[in-house]
Amino acid sequence: MAASVTQKKWDRISSFYKWSNGAAERRWEPWKKEMFSRMGDGNILFLAIGIGEEIRLFPENRRITAIDISPRMLSKAAAKAAHYNGSIRLMQMDARNLSFPSGTFNQVFTACTFCSVPEPVKGLKELYRVLKPGGELLMFEHTGSKHFPFREMLRIMNPIAEMIGPSVTRDTVANVSAAGFSIIGLHNVYLDIVKTISALK
Ligand SMILES: C[S@@+](CC[C@H](N)C(=O)[O-])C[C@H]1O[C@@H](n2cnc3c(N)ncnc32)[C@H](O)[C@@H]1O
Repeated sequence: MAASVTQKKWDRISSFYKWSNGAAERRWEPWKKEMFSRMGDGNILFLAIGIGEEIRLFPENRRITAIDISPRMLSKAAAKAAHYNGSIRLMQMDARNLSFPSGTFNQVFTACTFCSVPEPVKGLKELYRVLKPGGELLMFEHTGSKHFPFREMLRIMNPIAEMIGPSVTRDTVANVSAAGFSIIGLHNVYLDIVKTISALK
């Protein structure tokens, strides 16, 4: 099957992702680590593992299926996954069309992803489908802002941001609700732009 536009875009970005994202990665690490510490003993889906920089923040001995649309991102993540003290299965997949049966996972984790997935509500509905009833979605995301002047600044920046990577104007909290989830936790990490979201099926 031909590679999608999204796959090609992220394959291309994979070659400079570590360089372009390094500072953000270090800055948000404490919040991501706290969120990942909530990984339980059940079946875990990690959406958009990228080049695997977050693997070292995962608690040990978890059973994780980690997916990404980009084979090049996944190939960079492979060595880190192999060194994880637990189980990480890497798979190439589009969040909008998951090949898992409904009700497969106890928890889904994702970080800095729904700024990037086209048709975000479609992707979130797929996460909803593959979670068991009562299953948990935990997200670390950057979004648009509801406040002046950040809302306007992000709108101006968005066309360039989308060319080199993610969208910076998404309303991911509204998208999570639109996909059918009940939001049970929302914590602003930086203004109302960087946040953690917890939601239940
Ligand atoms: C900003 S990066 C975040 C990667 C990683 N979580 C991190 O923070 O370093 C976004 C990731 O989403 C992946 N991605 C984009 N659209 C996707 C989709 N439709 N399905 C699965 N992965 C997707 C990209 O390949 C990329 O690895």
